Amino acid sequence: MIIKPQHGKELGVTVEDFDHTTASEADIDALKQAVYQSKIAVLKGQDLTPKAFHELGKRLGRPEAYYEPMYHHPENPEIFVSSNVPEAGKQIGVPKTGKFWHADYQFMPDPFAITLIYPQVIPEKNRGTYFIDMGEAYRKLPDSLKAEIEGAHCWHSVRKYFKIRPQDVYRPITELLEEVEQKTPAVRQPTTFTHPMTGETVLYISEGFTVGIEDSEGNELDGDLLKRLFEATGQFDEDLAHENIHLQEFEKGDLLVWDNRSLIHRARHTTTPEPTVSHRVTVHDTGTLYERGN
Ligand SMILES: [Fe+2]
Repeated sequence: MIIKPQHGKELGVTVEDFDHTTASEADIDALKQAVYQSKIAVLKGQDLTPKAFHELGKRLGRPEAYYEPMYHHPENPEIFVSSNVPEAGKQIGVPKTGKFWHADYQFMPDPFAITLIYPQVIPEKNRGTYFIDMGEAYRKLPDSLKAEIEGAHCWHSVRKYFKIRPQDVYRPITELLEEVEQKTPAVRQPTTFTHPMTGETVLYISEGFTVGIEDSEGNELDGDLLKRLFEATGQFDEDLAHENIHLQEFEKGDLLVWDNRSLIHRARHTTTPEPTVSHRVTVHDTGTLYERGN
């Protein structure tokens, strides 16, 4: 296994000659350390069945199936499928996922530590995923903004981007919204926290899932504060040209592994509809979302 910095990029490493079936525990530890420290690892030359991809995920942590079954791979519920390519006339997984800034499962009490994406059908143009490193974004905040969010907590919810399921057709929208609040009530997390694996301070907010901010006493802070934080971190830049935004491209055989605690991501815009399919496995590691007692 060879781990090298990604050529011409500030973020991420490439990993060559990685085979999850023969990798030693030391190799797995080195790979995980690379993910925590460099945020993205691109495993090159992978040729895996869905079962083998799932096995690879299990070497990095404990997979969790997505809570909504419509995203599940038909043969393996722990694989999440993003696809706009019907198979035998049948929709598999869900099309157009994640076209907004988010961290995976940020709206759940126990978000995943690591996300693995294995592109299956890769678009000709517009390939790749955008990332913002929220550790770096925090360091770059003006001191005045850092002071404003000290001790603050944020609320995260799926309500803005919950995807209508086939069985929701003809249901009143209020009933559906009530179901979302009841099944996935908003969760409260510190606005900044210490990453348990690196000690880095992470600003834990995303335009897609963060819906409120309050001070240490639980008093709601002006909604404008969240907007200023999204603006300062690059999340309002619709041209995706902000200096905090990194485009991670991929080619056939690449498998992306990233740190879901400190990175937020967003699917790339496609101006022309192109076939695109990717499989995802998300895992928990031995740590909690953030270091407690600080
Ligand atoms: Fe995602």
